[in-house]
Amino acid sequence: MVTRTNLISRRMALKFRQLSISAVGSLKIKLLLLCCFVFTLTLLASRTPSFLGWGQESVPSLDRTSSKGYTLLINTWKRYDLLKQSISHYTTCPGLDSIHIVWSEPNPPSDLLVKYLNHAVKSNTKDGRYAELVFDINKEDSLNNRFKELKDPITDAVFSIDDDIIFPCKTVEFAYTVWRSAPDTMVGFVPRIHLLDPSSEKENSYIYGGWWPVWWTGTYSMILSKASFFHIKYLRMYSNEMPSSLLEYVKKNRNCEDIAMSFLVANATSAPPIWAKGKIYEIGSTGISSLGGHSDKRTECVNRFVSEFGRMPLIPTTVKAVDSRGTWFW
Ligand SMILES: *[C@@H]1O[C@H](CO)[C@@H](O)[C@H](O)[C@H]1NC(C)=O
Repeated sequence: MVTRTNLISRRMALKFRQLSISAVGSLKIKLLLLCCFVFTLTLLASRTPSFLGWGQESVPSLDRTSSKGYTLLINTWKRYDLLKQSISHYTTCPGLDSIHIVWSEPNPPSDLLVKYLNHAVKSNTKDGRYAELVFDINKEDSLNNRFKELKDPITDAVFSIDDDIIFPCKTVEFAYTVWRSAPDTMVGFVPRIHLLDPSSEKENSYIYGGWWPVWWTGTYSMILSKASFFHIKYLRMYSNEMPSSLLEYVKKNRNCEDIAMSFLVANATSAPPIWAKGKIYEIGSTGISSLGGHSDKRTECVNRFVSEFGRMPLIPTTVKAVDSRGTWFW
């Protein structure tokens, strides 16, 4: 009899243990499910503000009316397809006020090209008006042409670009917003760095650092003018206040006008530029940066400009501007 009761109680104990094990198991699963749920919720909430009832209508829209927009300053050289593609794209962007095409070819733009571009501009009317299109024709072929003073500037903001890269309107708008919060600063998408040359005996000897050192160190001190916003006053300063020997050097070597502009702005502001995050699409690949020996030439420019300015004005920074709507967890 004793053994029988024993057996029963043992069986019950076993059963109880199985029960409690499965209870703990389901608790874990529940916790896991809860985590998944919270995670999904956070993801959804950060992606779409409307998910939690914060619809777009309750968020004040980014104000564009208080500014006059920006002037697109595009540098081109015998690549009409790229030029057409670029202009057609940018005319669809809000905030675009006017387009200045820096033209340094010996022949003026063909009627066909002018007609095509004018049509592209006019087919993208916004609020009953369209962007003004101007060819800035230059007699001589010099890289300094790209920063010539504009005759009738309407906007404070200049968006300087090469004809072989395209940025989505959203990216441009974002950089423009960043620029408006710091209008003296250069804001753009292609960062570069100057590094101290450890092999040189001279104290202030530098090396031009391309994409790799920027990526590796997360540090930059220049924003290239092939894709950047800056204040229109810097065009005047570039032509009128830059040492003429420096302008001559840029013209002769057909290089480094963008580094010169970075020096000019850094010298004037004593502050670093701002790197804005954005999508880049390269539509051509015949730029000078793909040619060999490019980096050595750029290093030469940096050291040359340091001696022209009498000091190194560039200031390194690690700050990067990011659109908070595009990041899902702060
Ligand atoms: C650099 O800045 C100083 C002080 O503002 C100014 O006097 C000088 O002319 C600037 N140099 C160049 C080359 O612009």
